[in-house]
Amino acid sequence: MIVQLTVNGEDRHAEVAGWESLLWVLREQLGLTGTKGACEQGECGSCSVILDGEVVCSCLVMAADADGADVTTVEGLGTPEDLHPVQEAFVAEGAVQCGYCTPGLVVAAAHLLETNRRPEPDQIREALSGNLCRCTGYGAVLRAIEAAREAM
Ligand code: FES
Ligand code: FES
Repeated sequence: MIVQLTVNGEDRHAEVAGWESLLWVLREQLGLTGTKGACEQGECGSCSVILDGEVVCSCLVMAADADGADVTTVEGLGTPEDLHPVQEAFVAEGAVQCGYCTPGLVVAAAHLLETNRRPEPDQIREALSGNLCRCTGYGAVLRAIEAAREAM
């Protein structure tokens, strides 16, 4: 079937098979490789995108079920010339090591700060509880999000 999506503000369409996930379509058909696939079982959050206003694991969303949806990926948050405040803060705080988890963390953090401008530390931890990082130990990640909260 053909699915129509709004991705990062642009009308996009893709012909999808029943088994294809939104993650697969974003990466393999639409070329948006910022969104990462790791576990592909809904466990790690590497594939997080904003779907109709909610953060979801795109590996768990069937592409066919996303027909008509509005999707924001990490590519839609900022550009290399004009980073999102969360991206700037991740760079400034050194919150990136291998970087595999980073797009998902940035998407989840940006969504949090859009929906709650003054999150408490516990609320930040809760918002990121679905995003696993194997490298940073989370300290720099949490400092970055607190810095972005102040910047925003
Ligand atoms: S790749 Fe989707 S949750 Fe891990
Ligand atoms: S920076 Fe490597 S998994 Fe998070």
